[in-house]
Amino acid sequence: MGALEGQVAVITGAASGIGSAVARLFSAEGAALALFDIAEPAPESAALPATTRHRVDVTDADSVSAGIDAVIAEHGRIDVLVCAAGILEEVPFLEMDPAQWDRTLAVDLRGVFLAARYAAPHMVAAGRGRIIPIASQLGIKGGVNLAHYVAAKAGVIGMTKALAQELAPHGVLVNAIAPGPVVTPLIDGLSEDWKAQKAAELPLGRFGRPEEIAPTALLLAGSPGGDIYVGQTLGPNSGDVMP
Ligand SMILES: NC(=O)c1ccc[n+]([C@@H]2O[C@H](COP(=O)([O-])OP(=O)(O)OC[C@H]3O[C@@H](n4cnc5c(N)ncnc54)[C@H](O)[C@@H]3O)[C@@H](O)[C@H]2O)c1
Repeated sequence: MGALEGQVAVITGAASGIGSAVARLFSAEGAALALFDIAEPAPESAALPATTRHRVDVTDADSVSAGIDAVIAEHGRIDVLVCAAGILEEVPFLEMDPAQWDRTLAVDLRGVFLAARYAAPHMVAAGRGRIIPIASQLGIKGGVNLAHYVAAKAGVIGMTKALAQELAPHGVLVNAIAPGPVVTPLIDGLSEDWKAQKAAELPLGRFGRPEEIAPTALLLAGSPGGDIYVGQTLGPNSGDVMP
């Protein structure tokens, strides 16, 4: 029997990268899935069983609310929410215009707020649930040309602690994951020189793969391993950050 047998998981940003890997692992562990994204799913996650796909823009409250309502109408419950939708755009701070700042904050921070805001009431009503935002180690250590992204990810880590304190008494556990560099389309735009130099800096000497991040989400979603984590930020990060 899978670790998530009988559970319903909502995954945002599930069409690609880390969200897609989480979807495949959760599916293999028996969860029914509702996949939220603005893009079409990757071929490897397009045919997962017991899975519905929803065109949801995580920046849009009505879109997220309607997606959550659709999941409740179909399944009557949400056990796990993984917030993996994200964008990354490199811009030097001195050239960053307010629209770029707003766009990144909208997807990477507001998007987590909205998904949690509409899913949590159903978890609280059930007396149990797991919310797992995907932050980034850059929210801990900072980064060049990424002030908006770093601010959003630091915000996600802070919001995780706040939600964890507010919701744990209701049986809803909130914990973030702060990956290091992971080979996904998100970082396709970064230069090969930067990637080579960054990999050389890592104690492990290489970037992560999405399949290496998904098991941390399974740990946090599952039981008994996930039952004791509250407000934590776990770091599958090739050793780049050691808090
Ligand atoms: N790849 C990395 O190195 C890395 C490192 C640390 C953290 N992260 C974080 O992990 C999460 C997943 O990133 P990834 O690397 O898998 O990237 P990815 O680009 O492969 O996947 C991100 C997904 O989010 C979706 N998305 C973007 N805007 C959306 C919106 N408004 N509404 C709904 N979906 C939207 C995209 O369509 C895409 O499918 C992100 O939050 C990212 O910031 C990634």
